[in-house]
Amino acid sequence: MTANSPLYSPAADRNREPILQALRLILPPQGLALEIASGTGQHVAHFAAGLPGWVWQPSDAQADAFDSITGWCAQMGAGRVKPPILLNVMASPWPGDNSPFAQQFDAIYCANMLHISPWATCAALMQGAARHLTPAGLLLVYGPFLEAGQPTSPGNQDFDQSLRQRDPDWGIRQLDDVTREAHHVGLRLRQRLPMPANNLLLVFHRRPT
Ligand SMILES: C[S@@+](CC[C@H](N)C(=O)[O-])C[C@H]1O[C@@H](n2cnc3c(N)ncnc32)[C@H](O)[C@@H]1O
Repeated sequence: MTANSPLYSPAADRNREPILQALRLILPPQGLALEIASGTGQHVAHFAAGLPGWVWQPSDAQADAFDSITGWCAQMGAGRVKPPILLNVMASPWPGDNSPFAQQFDAIYCANMLHISPWATCAALMQGAARHLTPAGLLLVYGPFLEAGQPTSPGNQDFDQSLRQRDPDWGIRQLDDVTREAHHVGLRLRQRLPMPANNLLLVFHRRPT
């Protein structure tokens, strides 16, 4: 890789198209989306190119990937992507740098963060989504999850163990626990979409009052 080439995640390369296909079915034709934990930027670049009615705000807790995010967006010809911002979900309010969001979001998308961060980030993600989603807005959470009464795939079992060895605070989360955190802030699981490689795309919305 040269100094200027964007960071590359083989998993993001594989899963970006199946996720985009699902987003096309779930999301309305247009809106403003916040991506949490953008990482390399492969997802936001692909989604922005494939969902022309949407404007995307990428973000991450680490600023060192911002060049990669903008690099992927340039490479994909993805306009309608705002410059990445520093956002640690544990901050309150978001983005936590004294420049509050001017608008609420029609969608908040977060992939592959909950298992690679302490469990407290789940409550923080839900609380932030409840604060920053429009009334009809959707929270989309992608990644591997453990499910009560469902056998865990050998791949996810091994992945969970390797995560916990790397950091005892990491690990694949129980879907029931994630859903409970959502309920605490008035969000409800609307859809649970099975995705390739034993991942799920979870769609949360505000519980009708
Ligand atoms: C495995 S990468 C996922 C990147 C991308 N979403 C994807 O699926 O390819 C995990 C990302 O979560 C981010 N992250 C970890 N803790 C976070 C936090 N507290 N708030 C926001 N982002 C966080 C990391 O900086 C990293 O970019």
